[in-house]
Amino acid sequence: MKDTIDVLLSEDVINTRIRELAAQIDADYAGESVTLLCTLKGAVFFACELAKRITIPVFMEFIQTASYEGTQSTGTVSMKLDIPEEDVAGKHLIIIEDVIDTGRTLSVVKEMMLKRNPASLKVCSLLDKHECRVVPFEGDYVGFTIGNEFVVGYGLDVDQKYRNLPYVGVIR
Ligand code: IMP
Ligand code: MG
Repeated sequence: MKDTIDVLLSEDVINTRIRELAAQIDADYAGESVTLLCTLKGAVFFACELAKRITIPVFMEFIQTASYEGTQSTGTVSMKLDIPEEDVAGKHLIIIEDVIDTGRTLSVVKEMMLKRNPASLKVCSLLDKHECRVVPFEGDYVGFTIGNEFVVGYGLDVDQKYRNLPYVGVIR
């Protein structure tokens, strides 16, 4: 059966917001360079569109996390793909995420990266489901705050499907 997907954030709306985020990053890191640490796979589309609009020098690195839900839904996070410490040490790192949901993934990744002594560390997420936090966590740059609904598109998937939709939508 074909899913019906309602558009929540159109491509135009998303791209306008990404331009604003890029301008903010340009201003905040003026005279520096930034390393965008993209979390695979969901954040790839967002990271690329953001990188294209930043005008200061940009380096791109990629990591992949795997999360496992325990029986009492105490999720633990492990790294499927990591980067060496020297790619983090001394760099102005911005972790790029698709969505902050419970906050578990990013709190683990942030702690892990902080141990590698970046010059600075911030988190930029396209979406923030702020009301869904299990672990307290705040993004430094957030594209859109959305409600407690499962979204797909612009990198976000359900069972690996719909990442390539050019908009963010809700499966009806
Ligand atoms: P959390 O903040 O640790 O709960 O996990 C965030 C991760 O859960 C994201 O990187 C996504 O991979 C996934 N996720 C959370 N909400 C959604 C959604 O609405 N659609 C697709 N993936 C989601
Ligand atoms: Mg993800």
